[in-house]
Amino acid sequence: MLIAQLSDPHVRPEGMLYQDVVDSNAMFAAAIAQVNALDPRPDLVLLSGDLVDKGTADEYRMLRRLLAALAMPALVIPGNHDERAAFRAAFADHPYLPGEGPLHYAVGDRGPLRIVALDVTVPGLHHGEVDERAALWLDETLAAEPRRPTIVMMHQPPFESGVPYLDAYLCRDGGRLAHVISRHGQVERIVCGHVHRFMQLRFGGTMLCTAPSTATAIALRLKPDARPASHVEPPAFLLHHWRPEIGLVTHFMPIGAFPGPYPFA
Ligand SMILES: [Fe+2]
Repeated sequence: MLIAQLSDPHVRPEGMLYQDVVDSNAMFAAAIAQVNALDPRPDLVLLSGDLVDKGTADEYRMLRRLLAALAMPALVIPGNHDERAAFRAAFADHPYLPGEGPLHYAVGDRGPLRIVALDVTVPGLHHGEVDERAALWLDETLAAEPRRPTIVMMHQPPFESGVPYLDAYLCRDGGRLAHVISRHGQVERIVCGHVHRFMQLRFGGTMLCTAPSTATAIALRLKPDARPASHVEPPAFLLHHWRPEIGLVTHFMPIGAFPGPYPFA
């Protein structure tokens, strides 16, 4: 089973730039075209939040127009830049999304891997949280299929990255989340967005990785007093490749046209 993860496209209304710097709509279209061109094609695409930038209806209309080009089904979660009601309205045709409350869900009918999405966003705020109810939902949901290899998807990552301006808006309650995850050995990976960079670490006894953005990259600055910044680095996405005898291999794929191919030597 092959799963592409695209994150943080920050789609804007037609003709508007993201942060007045880049054409995030064109960059997302390029990401979709590159995913469509993969051979073999992914079975599924995960969109791990901040699908639009301001949460407006015209941004969601543009998002759906861009997603119409995607050749495979997608599972979506909101990020802190999404607006829950507008997000729900924009994806009213995605039946796995619950009708009210946080957008938690589990989808197990797309192949051998089960996808469990935990909505850690706090409407109106930029940090994330795992409150007691979310932790209980996750614990019960994972307990329901203890032998199914599982990806847990959430927007804000639950750990301190060391980048101070990111850590101000992480997902709080990391200890509570780690405790739940550690009880369920079938979790092959936790996948996040939000930080616009690739990171990985061990978390709750499994592996956690964050996806780059299809738009800009947040600057990697590790000094405690570092000032926030972004760069137009090569955008990228992740490709999660499941083979039962091997496990889950995660590839980092830059988006764009690069020199080559050259003879392999
Ligand atoms: Fe973002």
